[in-house]
Amino acid sequence: MVNKASLDREKARKYLRALCIQIERHDYLYYRANRPEISDFEYDCLRAEKQALLKLYPEWSQDEGPGSDLGNLHFPTTKHLFPMLSLSNTYSQEELLEFFHRIEGKVQAPCTYLLEPKIDGVAINLVYKQGHLEKAITRGNGYVGEVVTENVRTIKEIPLTLPENAPEEIELRGEIYLTERQFTHLNEEQERLGLETYANARNLAAGSLKLLDANEVARRRLHFIAHGVGFVSNDTHLDTQERLYGFFAQWGVPVFSFVMPGNSAEQIWNLIARFRSTKEKLPYGTDGVVVKVNDRLLQEQLGVTAKSPRWAIAYKFEPESAETLLQEVTFQVGRTGVITPVAELMPVDLAGSKVARATLHNFDEIQRKDIRKKDIVIVQKAGEIIPAIVGVKKDKRSASAEKIEVPLQCPACGAPLLKIAGEVVIRCTSLNCPPQLRLKIVHFASKDAMNVDGLGPKIVDILVSKGWLKDVADVFTLIDYRDVWIRLPGFSATSVDNVLLAIEKAKNRPLGCLLYGLSIPHVGVELAKKLAEYSTALEQLMRLSVEQLQEIPLVGEIIARSIVDFFANVRNQSIIEKLLQLGIKTNFLEKPTKHPLNGKILALTGSLTRLTRVEAERVIASLGGSVGRMITKQTSILVCGTNPGNKFAKAKALGIQIWNEEEFLHHVGILHADRS
Ligand code: IVH
Repeated sequence: MVNKASLDREKARKYLRALCIQIERHDYLYYRANRPEISDFEYDCLRAEKQALLKLYPEWSQDEGPGSDLGNLHFPTTKHLFPMLSLSNTYSQEELLEFFHRIEGKVQAPCTYLLEPKIDGVAINLVYKQGHLEKAITRGNGYVGEVVTENVRTIKEIPLTLPENAPEEIELRGEIYLTERQFTHLNEEQERLGLETYANARNLAAGSLKLLDANEVARRRLHFIAHGVGFVSNDTHLDTQERLYGFFAQWGVPVFSFVMPGNSAEQIWNLIARFRSTKEKLPYGTDGVVVKVNDRLLQEQLGVTAKSPRWAIAYKFEPESAETLLQEVTFQVGRTGVITPVAELMPVDLAGSKVARATLHNFDEIQRKDIRKKDIVIVQKAGEIIPAIVGVKKDKRSASAEKIEVPLQCPACGAPLLKIAGEVVIRCTSLNCPPQLRLKIVHFASKDAMNVDGLGPKIVDILVSKGWLKDVADVFTLIDYRDVWIRLPGFSATSVDNVLLAIEKAKNRPLGCLLYGLSIPHVGVELAKKLAEYSTALEQLMRLSVEQLQEIPLVGEIIARSIVDFFANVRNQSIIEKLLQLGIKTNFLEKPTKHPLNGKILALTGSLTRLTRVEAERVIASLGGSVGRMITKQTSILVCGTNPGNKFAKAKALGIQIWNEEEFLHHVGILHADRS
């Protein structure tokens, strides 16, 4: 953990920045992309480091809410009546005891606590009005969430109506989860179909909630358990958390099977030990327990901080870890050239399997943890996450321990390595790097990209080694090799023709899929879709500047630069040129390119009465325009609703054209259509 003596101000500032970049990235991977790369424990460590640093330098604190899963515009958003906060959490018994001391210092009477599982699922807010399930809203950013009611209605154990004794209006909160059994079953099915398997039950549940096909959601068989309420009208009889659960059960709402009351820290600690030994029997994944003050009036008195209630705490269990010798460090090249340092370990038994390799994540992490070759390191394995080195036994460091040098050349192709400003990782700059090429082609062919069934890693390896695939565009020239290909061992005319058919179909994939498939650093599947929404064709996107790109939601400076750099690269340009020549469609959205809004950047301020903001953004995008978050010189038009914000004054000062709602509706053709 950091301390002020070991860090001067300048270093601390840099360190904080590096931590923030990493946390932001992992928030994105966890909340939005549903494919976390580090365990919750490692993530919590990063956050704890950040908190420790901000304690030393409180002047750098910025108000930040809990992470956000808001992302695409497929579902309407709505405000929670009461915010959906996070739980403060700890891995240390000492900090847990502090929680009890804090409470007992504030309340006079003896306090009862409830101990319950911390279920590893996805939070949901169920709004019942007059006894009917009106809306199901994801947590979103804690204040605003996405309305996924139709999907949630497929969860059989969530009652659509509550009995008469339920409050008139209630925000019923809980967790949606997949049983471990169902998770295994769904993954087996994916495997049988030759499709990619899902990362873990929690992320599969989160992804399922955002599906556009409710039938598919139903097939996934999600479950629900309630753990609290938000707004409740007239809740006088719900005076304890325990009674709340009693009512839930009476209303047919699923509740935890393990809820234990305790009157002291000691009692709760003993119950935690009991829980540890039985948790494997629960049908869902848990990563710890939650301790809550039972009395709801007391809960209210204790109140909340910006992020979490003061009346509850999550005590999380550290994943299993083991000590072993770090023998050597090797470097792996990823799809976008990222070099990942890998620890080659003296094999050690961990969580039921032998572990001989573990990720060191990146060089900032190595430096932060001060890991050296020949150190005794702590290796940890949490669920499905690849084993990672989480710490070093410095007291066991030998004199032969060696610093891990940052390589200057790519271990696979020898090209120079580059650290891009603002990024944590270092990358191989070569576009001919063999492992990158293989991974890029496999990615290009993957389901969310060009969806070429049958072009998996093994086949790609063969085709690359034949010299038929030198870049992703070559996928579309494979037809030239058909007659030789069908004679290769392991192939037949049928299997090859099936792949070729899938390749032909891929020529018509949506722009977002193509963009995702190009492996532009930082451009994941969701961002690619967003970029496609805001451009009429690939060629148009290629011309956007860093500033213009930043007008697109989700695009910050690092991403914008990465996109511009990618398209500025001559080799990438020639790949795209080749794709175009081979007949790959890149202007899919059939937008009326002659519409006056095409290519224009609009900004919105105030509230519109006829459209939601999301609808307005969609209309603009469908006409080839884009929506900027701020007023800049590039802004073409400001659409001004009622109660405009300070964008109005800024636009006026810059002489930017301003439309009222009526003018906007007229220009986009909505008013006209309505009247006819
Ligand atoms: S109570 C103010 N109880 O953990 C938040 N939450 O890290 C009160 N969670 O967003 C929530 N098990 O989705 C509560 N037994 C439990 C829980 C639980 C899992 C989730 C919940 C919350 C997150 C916070």
